[in-house]
Amino acid sequence: MGLQKRFSLGICECALFDMTEILVIYESTMGRTRAMAQAICEGVTASGVPCRLVQADDFPTTLNGVCALAIGSSTRIKRPLPRIRQILSELPDLNGLPAVSYGSYGWSGEAPDEIANRLQEHGARMIVEPLKVKDYPDEKALAKCRDIGVKLASWCSKK
Ligand SMILES: Cc1cc2nc3c(=O)[nH]c(=O)nc-3n(C[C@H](O)[C@H](O)[C@H](O)COP(=O)(O)O)c2cc1C
Repeated sequence: MGLQKRFSLGICECALFDMTEILVIYESTMGRTRAMAQAICEGVTASGVPCRLVQADDFPTTLNGVCALAIGSSTRIKRPLPRIRQILSELPDLNGLPAVSYGSYGWSGEAPDEIANRLQEHGARMIVEPLKVKDYPDEKALAKCRDIGVKLASWCSKK
């Protein structure tokens, strides 16, 4: 069965069989966006939903049973990093999958917006505004990331 078919089935399976796993993908050069990704996963797991944290280089990974998705990248020359751009160009039909975008930035922070736009083009339902954090996320920013993880988890729990 092809990736697209498996993925859209995976979304349905979440609702029908309570398969709940959230996939948090990131690409990060100095660990700032990775820290955001880890905090998002903390929020997910604190809500009792399994979280799979995946570095962009390790994608593709199975999308079976993924009930929500977070994709993050820092901004480089106004765009997401290359591996995330590639992943975004290869996404299957997301069929209303709840999703968020996030990323650290230095001065302009376009990457999370571009990620959100591409996710929407692929049929994702963006559940919050793109989360942008300047430089390394401080405790307040990490708390926002955890909150987003909790929100993602709440979508997975909805029947
Ligand atoms: C070559 C290069 C280009 C960058 N271009 C941008 C940019 O266009 N806009 C921006 O906001 N930040 C830019 N940055 C800053 C990074 O987004 C910022 O340092 C970020 O915190 C890195 O996060 P990371 O550790 O998750 O990769 C650039 C950094 C580098 C090294």
